[in-house]
Amino acid sequence: MQIKSAEFVMSNSEVAKCPKDRMPEYAFIGRSNVGKSSLINMLMLRKSLAKTSGRPGKTQLINHFLINKNWYLVDLPGYGYARVSKSSKKVFQKFITNYFEKREQMVLAFVLVDCRHEPQPIDLEFMEWMGETGIPFNIIFTKADKLKPGALERNIKAYSEKMLETWEEMPPYFITSASDSTGRDEVLNYIDGLNKNLTGL
Ligand code: GTP
Ligand code: MG
Repeated sequence: MQIKSAEFVMSNSEVAKCPKDRMPEYAFIGRSNVGKSSLINMLMLRKSLAKTSGRPGKTQLINHFLINKNWYLVDLPGYGYARVSKSSKKVFQKFITNYFEKREQMVLAFVLVDCRHEPQPIDLEFMEWMGETGIPFNIIFTKADKLKPGALERNIKAYSEKMLETWEEMPPYFITSASDSTGRDEVLNYIDGLNKNLTGL
């Protein structure tokens, strides 16, 4: 897919105030600092369309970006930052869960996972919550530039094995790097295919 335009539309904390047109949208979710905003910039070939930071907690609201004037990318705040209670009970911000429960035009969520780490309970729990709630998702492994190919392959194999303890199959997944644009064509072509199926865009 060619990116002809990418515009920031609005930020808000209430799903009721999100854009009212019915264009298909794709949401990026994952732990703080995993690289959600950076990935949006990489896909859109823009340095700072979405705001990024080395410090976790940069994105605080639901951010809509209109792409090619016919679909949206949605940048969400990370979970698992400053919201984790002492008892290690994970709390996902209510407006994030609301967004996924209410936003009917959300076609697919991409759950971003840092390829360097072993499977983290908070990510596994979030994916379980999505499964129970009936929200379709794929996985995007981020920061692939930080690992040598062998280590990357080992980590993804280990991640798949962990997922198969609870899921019947591994969801479709992508390997990306915002630093060297690995995975850009794969993610964009995938979205393009879904858009064409949905709306004939
Ligand atoms: P929150 O908005 O806080 O939830 O974080 P986020 O998931 O949007 O992460 P963000 O894109 O702000 O990136 C966090 C940090 O990781 C920044 O310092 C980025 O430069 C860095 N980063 C993101 N993606 C990559 C990547 O693919 N490779 C490398 N090397 N660094 C990355
Ligand atoms: Mg962000």
